[in-house]
Amino acid sequence: MSWEESVVDDPLLTIKDLTVDFESFDGIHKVIDGVSLSVGRGEVVAIAGETGCGKSVTMKAILRLLATADINGEMIYDGQDLQAMSDREFSMLKGREMSMIFQDPMSSLNPVFTIGEQLTDTAQFGGRGTTGVLEYLKRKYTGNGREEARQRAIDMLREVQMPDPEDVMESYPTQLSGGMCQRVLIAQALLNEPTMLIADEPGTALDVTIHDQILTLLKRLIEERDLSLLMITHNLGVAREISDRVYIMYGGRIVETAPTEDIFAEPKHPYTQGLIASIPRLTGGEMAKGIDGSVPEYLNPPNGCRYHPRCPYAYERCRSERPPMVEQGATTAVECVLYDQPSDTAREIPTIERTRQAMDGHPEAPQPTMESETDD
Ligand SMILES: Nc1ncnc2c1ncn2[C@@H]1O[C@H](COP(=O)(O)OP(=O)(O)OP(=O)(O)O)[C@@H](O)[C@H]1O
Ligand code: SF4
Ligand SMILES: [Mg+2]
Repeated sequence: MSWEESVVDDPLLTIKDLTVDFESFDGIHKVIDGVSLSVGRGEVVAIAGETGCGKSVTMKAILRLLATADINGEMIYDGQDLQAMSDREFSMLKGREMSMIFQDPMSSLNPVFTIGEQLTDTAQFGGRGTTGVLEYLKRKYTGNGREEARQRAIDMLREVQMPDPEDVMESYPTQLSGGMCQRVLIAQALLNEPTMLIADEPGTALDVTIHDQILTLLKRLIEERDLSLLMITHNLGVAREISDRVYIMYGGRIVETAPTEDIFAEPKHPYTQGLIASIPRLTGGEMAKGIDGSVPEYLNPPNGCRYHPRCPYAYERCRSERPPMVEQGATTAVECVLYDQPSDTAREIPTIERTRQAMDGHPEAPQPTMESETDD
C-alpha cells in the first residue's frame, strides 16, 4: 500500500502524481511537480505553505479552472475519474457534490446582479450542467421553481447567520461589507447540499475578527453537515484551528503530511519545522525569524529536493535525487532523504530546536553544505 493510501481510510477525493506546467515565452514553468493527496469522507484537510508554493494552482487544476495549463495525473472523486468526465458531467458534479469558496469575497460575486438573483440562480440551476439561454430565461421568468429556489436561498442566508436576509437578497454586492459577502459565498457553496467543499483562503482578505467569525461559522457548518473540506491556507494557525490533517506544500510538492496535532507537536520536515518556528509568539521573547530565502522559481527549479537551497541540513544527496516520501508510522509521511538513510550513515535527524538554532545563526547549528543548482 502506498503512503497516500495508508494515511486515509475512506478517501472521497484522491489526487495522484498531479503535475501542472505553464508554457510561456521564456519556457516551461513546472509549478506542480507530482502532488498526491487524499481527503477522507467527513475529513477536514488543510494544504498549507508559503505564498507562491502552488496551493491555488493545485485547487484550480482539480476544478478545471486552468484552461491553458498542461495538467497530468490522476484525480478520483468518489470512485469517478474526474478527467474522464465531459464538461457537462463535471459541471453537474461541481454544482452538486463538490462546491468551492474563493479567497476574495468582493470579486467573487457579480456586481451587476443582486444577491437574491445570484443565490436564487444557484439554487435553481446549480448542479444541472449547462443550461441553454432560452431555457434559463423561460424557467427564470415563468416562475417555474423560482419562488421555491428563492426561499431556499433566504433560509441558507439565515443558516450562515446573515442579519436581515430578506434585505440582503435585494442588495448588490457593493452594498455589503466584506464579511457579509463572504457569508453569501458560503451560503452559495452550500445551497445544493454538497458532500465536499474546497475553500481557498476564505476570509483572509478580511480583518482578523471577521476572519475568525468566518472560520467559526465554517467549522460549525462542516460539523453539522458532516462535510469533507479541503482548506487551502498560508496561515498555519488556520490549519491548526480547523483541520484534522495537514499537507505541507513547498515548491509545488507535498513535503509532509500528518494529523494536525502531530505536525504541530513534532514536525519532521525541515521546512515544516522552519514554518512552525516562524510563527510569531504573543507571550514575549524575541520576534521569530522567518526562513531565509524564498520559494523556488518554477522555470528552472532546483535539482533534487526543491528545498535544498534553503535547508540547513542539505548535503550532496539532496541535490542529486528527488527525496522519497518516507512513511513515519501509519498516518505521517515526510519527503526528506534524512528519513531514508542507509544504515552506515548517521546524519542528524532534524528537530525543531536545531532548525530554530539554524534560523537564528547559532554557531553550532547545522548549515547547508552546498550551493543551489537548477534543472536545465
Ligand atoms: N496561469 C499561470 N501561468 C504561469 N504561472 C502561474 C499561473 N498561475 C500561477 N502561476 C505560478 O504558480 C506559482 C504558484 O501560484 P499559486 O497561486 O498556486 O500560489 P499559492 O500557493 O496559492 O500562493 P498564495 O498563498 O499567495 O495564494 C506562482 O509562482 C505563480 O506565479
Ligand atoms: S535534508 Fe535534503 S531532502 Fe531533506 S529537506 Fe533538506 S534538502 Fe530536502
Ligand atoms: Mg493562492
